[in-house]
Amino acid sequence: MNKYRVAIVGATGLVGSEFIKVLEQRNFPISDLQMFASDRSAGKKLYFAHEEYEVKETATDSFRDVDIAFFSAGTDTSKYFAPIATKSGAVVIDNSVAFRMDDSVPLVVPEVNTEDIKKHKGIIANPNCSTIQMVVAINPLHRVNPIKRIIVTTLQSVSGTGSAAVEELTAQSSQVLRGQDTTPHVYPHQIAFNTLPHIDVFLDNAYTKEEWKMVEETRKIMHAEDMLVSATCVRVPVFNSHSEAVTLEFTNPITPEEARRILSQAPGVYVLDDPGISLYPTPWMAASTDVTYVGRIRRDVSHFNGLVMWVVADNIRKGAALNAVQIAEEMIKHNWVKPGD
Ligand code: A2P
Repeated sequence: MNKYRVAIVGATGLVGSEFIKVLEQRNFPISDLQMFASDRSAGKKLYFAHEEYEVKETATDSFRDVDIAFFSAGTDTSKYFAPIATKSGAVVIDNSVAFRMDDSVPLVVPEVNTEDIKKHKGIIANPNCSTIQMVVAINPLHRVNPIKRIIVTTLQSVSGTGSAAVEELTAQSSQVLRGQDTTPHVYPHQIAFNTLPHIDVFLDNAYTKEEWKMVEETRKIMHAEDMLVSATCVRVPVFNSHSEAVTLEFTNPITPEEARRILSQAPGVYVLDDPGISLYPTPWMAASTDVTYVGRIRRDVSHFNGLVMWVVADNIRKGAALNAVQIAEEMIKHNWVKPGD
C-alpha cells in the first residue's frame, strides 16, 4: 500500500490534536509526518503513535516534502500558506472558511459528494461543522424525496471556537459556582450558564456569518442551488458536540417510519430514537465518537410534507478533523492523490 508524506498545520490546536488522534486511530498510511503551528509553539513536542515530533513554525518552505497537508490554523494562515503548499505539490485539505465558497474549490462531505473531490486544483475545503452533520443526516432523505426548505436551530459547543473558548467556559463555570464575577474575553458575553444567539459576525441581512455559512454551504455540498435554508446558530455552555433541531419540508409526504428506515441504512448515521425510554442523542454521549446521531424524528404538525428531527455529532471529529481525514482517504481509495518520493 502507498504511504504519504503528511503535514498538519495548526497541530497544537483543538482540531490539530484531533487530526493527530484520528490519523493514528484510522491507521492512515503515513511515510512522514510534520507538525506545524505558529512561532509561539516552535520546539514544542507532540506525540503520534508513541513517537515524539517537534512542532515547527509554519514557513514558506514547510511544504517541499509534503503530499497531503491538513490545515486548521485559522483563515488568515490558510489564505497565506495553502496556495504556497499547493505550489510545492501538496494537496491541501483546509478546515477554514477561506476557500469554501470558491467555485474552483470542492467543498466535501464524503457521505454526500465524494465525486466533487475529483475536480480539485490543489485545495479541498472542509465545510463548517454545523453544516457537515446536518447534510450527513438530511442528504439520504433528500435523495429519495427532495427537500425544498430547511429551518434549523443549532446549539453549538464552545470547542468550535478553539482552546481559548474551552478555557473560558471552564474558568467562568467555576467562578459562577463560587459566586464570583466573570469577565468575557472570547465571547461578547459570559458563556457559562448562558446561551448566546451570536456565532461569528453579523451580516447586513441580520443573519450571522455562521448562519449564512449553513445556507450557502448546504446548497453547494448538496448541489441544491434553490434549496431554501434559514438557520439560527446559538452558542451553548457545552464543551463538545453540536446539537441541531432541524425542520424539513419535502416535495412529497414522508412518514417518520420511512425516514427512520432510510437513515438507519445511511452511511455515517446512527438512529437513536425511542422517546418512550428517553432514547435520543445528546452532546455528552456523542463526544469522541464518529457518527452523526439522529433522533426525535416526528411529523411536522404544521406542514403536510414536513418532518422534524434532532441531529447531534462531535464537532471536532465529524465536524472537522474526521471529515478532513475521510476526504484524504477517499482520494487515496480512488487514486486521486499520488505519493511523492
Ligand atoms: P499556536 O498554538 O502556536 O498558537 P485553536 O483553534 O485550538 O485555538 O488552535 C489554533 C491553531 O492554529 C494552533 O495550532 C495555533 O498555533 C495555530 N496558529 C494560529 N496562528 C497561526 C499562524 N499565524 N501560523 C501557523 N499556525 C497558527
